[in-house]
Amino acid sequence: MSAPLTLLGIESSCDDTAAAVVRLAGDRGLILSSVVAGQTALHAAYGGVVPEIAARAHAERVDLCIEEALDKAGLGLADLSGIAVTAGPGLIGGVLAGVMCAKGIAAVTGLPLVGVNHLAGHALTPRLTDGLRFPYLILLVSGGHCQFLIVEDAVSFTRLGGTIDDAPGEAFDKTAKLLGLPQPGGPAVESEARTGDPARFHFPRPLLDRDGCDMSFSGLKTALLRARDQAVAERGGLAIQDRADLCAGFQAAVRDVLVAKSRRAIARYLELAPAEPAFAVAGGVAANSAVRAALETLCTREGVRFLAPPLPLCTDNAAMIAWAGIERLERGLTDGLDLSARPRWPLDDRAAPLLGAGKKGAKA
Ligand code: KG4
Ligand code: ZN
Repeated sequence: MSAPLTLLGIESSCDDTAAAVVRLAGDRGLILSSVVAGQTALHAAYGGVVPEIAARAHAERVDLCIEEALDKAGLGLADLSGIAVTAGPGLIGGVLAGVMCAKGIAAVTGLPLVGVNHLAGHALTPRLTDGLRFPYLILLVSGGHCQFLIVEDAVSFTRLGGTIDDAPGEAFDKTAKLLGLPQPGGPAVESEARTGDPARFHFPRPLLDRDGCDMSFSGLKTALLRARDQAVAERGGLAIQDRADLCAGFQAAVRDVLVAKSRRAIARYLELAPAEPAFAVAGGVAANSAVRAALETLCTREGVRFLAPPLPLCTDNAAMIAWAGIERLERGLTDGLDLSARPRWPLDDRAAPLLGAGKKGAKA
């Protein structure tokens, strides 16, 4: 009997350098190791990810992450079945650092090389963790992405809609910045919102009047700025309660938009009459308990199973890349040493391009 597929995954498309080893175990994956070296501190002074700084940090750290991932898994290169690497979409300097490193290892060892779409990595995570059956619906919601995808197969995705401007995580980060809260903004805003009154300030629910699953979050930032200035004008400064009320109002608006659009996406997905209907979320914003609870309630009402991978697998990591690589390798899909790094790479190339790029660079 041949050994189960065991892949090294490499991720460097944004501001996390990551390496992981994942083994196929039945209908899901066994994560033997997963190492993530974040770059938050390197970019902190600039209010966003600086592509050149990110690319250099990836180039400096990627081999160290790989060494650590192999060590933790207790394996050497000879024990692997292949190398999976994020080949896009993302910041091109970072993607190149990972792709060049993967090519070097593949050239030296003769192992199969598998180029993986970063978004496919996120979208396939519920199969890595739970062996979820196709077709399922997923909402990718982070600082760089926001889209609904029907996952029909590991290599076939239909995008039902997405943000036409900012990603929700980006809106959380900007909100935190406008209110003097630390980055990343999501957890800080969520924590303030706990003691706030969501009804005190009026925030719009953008695009709910428009059919379909597209979303817009950039207007919320303007609404927040206006409400903050109004509060400051009324009291001559921003009181602690004002800040909490602003956070609660903003978070409720994001939650309501995500829930309303998810309801529509679920209706379209259910038209396929899936045998085991399931809705999964992934991405940093899926960590928000208000958003998560509201989506879970929606799914219960719609009779759809709700899945949210554990947080370290919701945010950027290499285990999801190794897993997506396993799915491709199982289907005989490998790449040559001419694999190119792609800044833009939509998962569903039949869908019209979304306008938004996201603070962390052009996505899809
Ligand atoms: O998936 P992720 O780690 O990276 C990418 O953007 O690809 O997501 C990070 C984003 C940040 O914008 C962060 O503010 C947001 O996810 N986030 C949250 C929460 N935790 C992280 N947003 C809302 N509530 C949270 N608890
Ligand atoms: Zn990501």
